[in-house]
Amino acid sequence: LRDYFETVHMRGISLMEEQHKVVLVGSGAVGTAFAFSLLQNITSTELIIVDINNERTQGNVLDLQDITPLTGTNFVRKGDYNDAADADLVVVTAGVPRQQGESRLDLFKKNTSILKTIITPVVASGFKGCFVTSSNPVDVLTTITQKLSGFPRERVIGSGTSLDSARLAVELAFKLEVPVQSIKNAYVLGEHGDSSFVALSKTTVLGKRLTEFTEINDLYLPRLEESVRTRGSRIIALKGATYYGVAVCLMKICRAILTGKEIKLPVSAPLTGQYGQQNIYLGTPAIIGADGIKEVIELPLSSEEKTKMDLSAKKIRMILDSLK
Ligand code: 2OP
Repeated sequence: LRDYFETVHMRGISLMEEQHKVVLVGSGAVGTAFAFSLLQNITSTELIIVDINNERTQGNVLDLQDITPLTGTNFVRKGDYNDAADADLVVVTAGVPRQQGESRLDLFKKNTSILKTIITPVVASGFKGCFVTSSNPVDVLTTITQKLSGFPRERVIGSGTSLDSARLAVELAFKLEVPVQSIKNAYVLGEHGDSSFVALSKTTVLGKRLTEFTEINDLYLPRLEESVRTRGSRIIALKGATYYGVAVCLMKICRAILTGKEIKLPVSAPLTGQYGQQNIYLGTPAIIGADGIKEVIELPLSSEEKTKMDLSAKKIRMILDSLK
């Protein structure tokens, strides 16, 4: 397949657009849903899939190759960590997924050891692009990815609360009976997990401040927060896993990096003093562009929200410390 691709390159066939190279580590439900979204949204990608499960990966490669004639100048093949040498992105979705009743943090030990076996060979390949991660607990694992790789902070990004923020918009749209696209700046911040919290001071709906809607009151807000927080668990209880939402979050992060078209998205971002925190990744809006995170945005928080952010940070730090 490599020969085939090189031949295609040499012949200059169908490579009119700039080709992007993405290495995906993990061909489970999240990884393949991401691949499916990426190939449809970035129509000039060389996607290389790396996974220890050879058969499943080969099956997914063949299945995904079948969509390439329909989507653009994409190319999909199976590969190894050496493929990262000249890649733009390494997307890590590998890891044990969360089971029913398991918190994202329970996964920490298992997924940290898996992560180590990935980051070391990727860095050894000479990789110079950006890491994008989604394995849970994502804030902890993104922090560890940056530490293990020694990469500049802005070139390591976790999916963080992008998914939770999408979930918040969905729940608000149903509650207010408005189109989901009319909800702007609705953020879930902090840990992608049990200590996440909603920050709605900047939220607008149909151009109006959210506070103008009487449905959104002190009775409803805690229910909303809880409902958003437990949405992942509800999906897992119903169908065993969650993947479409996070897959599109990953695609959007990757698209911003590959095309350089900047976006603002809440992600697991490196804090360097924002919210009084540093040396950890935590969910906050950030501007993402060609070189990864261009700017980490610190939202103004109420004192109650600040306490919640501190709690999230404390939780992440405690887990990181347990590694030492
Ligand atoms: C989710 O929230 C499992 O973290 C994953 O959907």
